[in-house]
Amino acid sequence: MAQLLRVQNFSISSDGIGAGEDQSLERPFGHVAPEQLFAWAGATASWPMRTDPGGSRGLDDYFTRDYARNIGAEIMGRNKFGPQRGPWHDDEWRGWWGDEPPFHTPVFVLTHHERPSFTLSDTTFHFVGGDPAAVLEQAREAAHGKDVRLGGGVTTIRQFLDADLVDTLHVAVSPVTLGSGLRLWDSPEELLDRFHLEVVPSPSGSVTHHLFWRK
Ligand SMILES: NC(=O)c1ccc[n+]([C@@H]2O[C@H](COP(=O)([O-])OP(=O)(O)OC[C@H]3O[C@@H](n4cnc5c(N)ncnc54)[C@H](OP(=O)(O)O)[C@@H]3O)[C@@H](O)[C@H]2O)c1
Repeated sequence: MAQLLRVQNFSISSDGIGAGEDQSLERPFGHVAPEQLFAWAGATASWPMRTDPGGSRGLDDYFTRDYARNIGAEIMGRNKFGPQRGPWHDDEWRGWWGDEPPFHTPVFVLTHHERPSFTLSDTTFHFVGGDPAAVLEQAREAAHGKDVRLGGGVTTIRQFLDADLVDTLHVAVSPVTLGSGLRLWDSPEELLDRFHLEVVPSPSGSVTHHLFWRK
């Protein structure tokens, strides 16, 4: 079976914004509050960061669970991994996620700045550069036959879309207008020359799921 490159649960505003500007240690999503984009996932029973019992078990929960299904590796951009820019001053920063990162697979962090790989629990982070096709090849090999998740951020997803390497995308659009920030698209119609699209409003009313797959 083909090994797909999948974008999962990528969350944007109704005007296409997937992250704010001016990212910092205190504000991983820049001027955008994560709840503005991820409230739909945070309300589900399967949300990994959930601390209290309960949560919805409907369509939104299905997508939250699908995040990890048959994924053997992730590719992410350096700005998703952390707020630093330029050369690494030391190897102290190990991502936002603490000692138990939610990936549980090899993760390939795209960067122009070399850094040794390291492992936290069952996630190993590798730091790689190069053209997207070559990076995808590395990730596919590490995924041992499973699919590869393209984890974002916005720049990374746009780069792999431009290189025509993405097989499926699930984008959750929240009914909030942000005005400025990092934009995934002006309109989902931009992808319709290359992808089929099904748009499914969540019965919870808080988000509209966009499912794309390659024509
Ligand atoms: N809405 C969502 O669902 C979602 C999901 C994930 C992340 N995010 C948010 O998105 C934001 C980050 O997105 P972003 O667009 O700023 O950045 P990004 O895509 O995470 O990372 C971009 C950086 O990765 C490195 N890079 C990318 N392609 C490369 C290549 N081919 N070779 C070498 N290096 C490469 C470059 O860094 P260097 O040149 O500095 O090494 C580049 O500046 C964060 O705020 C994050 O929280 C949102």
